[in-house]
Amino acid sequence: MKGIILKNERLNDKYRLMEIESPEFAQTAKPGQFVMVKTGLQDYLADPLLRRPFGVVDVRGNTFRLLYMLVGKGTRLMTESPAGSVIEFSSSLGNGFKSVKNQNIALAAGGVGIAPLLWIAKLLKDDGCRVTLYFGGRNQEDIILADEFRPHIDKLIITTDDGSIGEKALVTAPFEKDAAGFDRVYACGPKRMLQAVSEICVKGGVPVDVSLDERMACGMGACLGCIIYVREGEETVQKRCCVEGPVFDGSKVVWESVCR
Ligand SMILES: Cc1cc2nc3c(=O)[nH]c(=O)nc-3n(C[C@H](O)[C@H](O)[C@H](O)COP(=O)(O)OP(=O)(O)OC[C@H]3O[C@@H](n4cnc5c(N)ncnc54)[C@H](O)[C@@H]3O)c2cc1C
Ligand code: FES
Repeated sequence: MKGIILKNERLNDKYRLMEIESPEFAQTAKPGQFVMVKTGLQDYLADPLLRRPFGVVDVRGNTFRLLYMLVGKGTRLMTESPAGSVIEFSSSLGNGFKSVKNQNIALAAGGVGIAPLLWIAKLLKDDGCRVTLYFGGRNQEDIILADEFRPHIDKLIITTDDGSIGEKALVTAPFEKDAAGFDRVYACGPKRMLQAVSEICVKGGVPVDVSLDERMACGMGACLGCIIYVREGEETVQKRCCVEGPVFDGSKVVWESVCR
């Protein structure tokens, strides 16, 4: 698919928010899905060859948004793609988050893991849920989009490693204190954080859905480059993060296969 970049906004030195017009994509995407992106500055003979995966932040009318952190070549080329230029992307991929009604929900985000949680927060709130967001980062720079969440959540708890905003702690510290009171948890962020959140949830008997950012090549189930292991009954089975995920039951993930 192709779309027009309407905005490519610099949030700070580390993060950008891109808005793309594509009626076709906007009509089909679901919360928690992702998209493989290739900028007009990449060609088939040059590095980087592969498309890069990004969670869909939300859909508004004919547009969708991506939040991206500057990491390497692919994301640098995204920063160099101006408003008005054309960008290529896959259809919406992966299983996404399932919404529930009238429950007490926690969202747990680490850094750019906030990206796929805004849309599901909106749906949960609309469906009568009470929503608490636990949002952790290294410092203030990582606490992005928090204001956009405020209308869709009941409570916001921020933590940073250096205490520059919110409590000086890992996000799992305040979360652990409250965890047993939630009906369900949705989490996205660094793998070790997702492992810790899942372990806390298992201890408290709370269902937990985690969105995993495995490195991906094809994004469509063909290359088997994104395999992780999950437990199914007595068995340990392989799953492709791009097709069967990126959202998995955190209590079933074999974390040693993810946190390598
Ligand atoms: C399903 C999914 C959803 C994602 N959603 C988002 C999102 O919403 N916003 C966002 O900013 N990023 C997201 N990511 C991560 C994003 O895809 C990578 O940051 C991006 O591909 C980096 O591309 P690059 O060319 O700039 O860096 P590269 O040059 O490819 O990599 C630079 C460095 O980053 C490391 N790296 C690259 N990709 C990953 C990764 N997936 N996990 C861990 N380390 C990595 C590499 O090992 C390397 O050291 C997501 C990943 C997945 C799989
Ligand atoms: S990225 Fe190729 S199978 Fe998942």
